[in-house]
Amino acid sequence: MKQQKSRLAVLQEDITTLAVDAIVNAANSSLLGGGGVDGAIHRAAGPELLAFCRGLGGCPTGEARITPGFRLPARYVIHTVGPVWHGGGRGEARLLASCYRSVFALAAQHELASLAFPAVSCGVYGYPRDAAACIAVAECLAGLTANPRLEVVYLVAFDAAMAQTYRRFACPPDA
Ligand code: APR
Repeated sequence: MKQQKSRLAVLQEDITTLAVDAIVNAANSSLLGGGGVDGAIHRAAGPELLAFCRGLGGCPTGEARITPGFRLPARYVIHTVGPVWHGGGRGEARLLASCYRSVFALAAQHELASLAFPAVSCGVYGYPRDAAACIAVAECLAGLTANPRLEVVYLVAFDAAMAQTYRRFACPPDA
């Protein structure tokens, strides 16, 4: 089986354009849409996504829910609710790690082969990018190790700075 690192890739893209099994949405606990990547995903998926989400009854921080992708090129959307950054003393790191683990649990349950994450909590929710990238890379490598069926996981940055941050953690120079 290919090493975990070769199955983890960094992209600088609009996540709504990716034809993967599932894209991850950085949602809020209502699951009824918002701005940022949440708004972009709902716009691209079409109104059926919101209608479907209305029936889910929301999602607690750190957990995830799966829906069809509707008009998106991705088959599914896995909505996860990241923590709002309050300085690090309210369990933010544990909750962010929990987002990734919850997504990987749903990916395994649905036998997905490809997955793409945005930088959960790094926008409106204010999570420091370096700390978030460190958690994202660690949890993605662990998720890939635990699930050989998962062929590739993409960490999708929306800007060059976030892409560089991801690369610093995902592909450190050989020691
Ligand atoms: N593709 C990929 N990444 C994107 C896209 C996109 N189309 N649009 C935004 N991003 C990036 C942002 O640049 C940021 O790095 O997604 C990351 C997460 O930022 P937010 O979307 O603001 O998400 P978050 O910080 O988790 O805040 C969630 O914002 O939109 C609301 O309803 C959402 O209340 C929730 C909150």
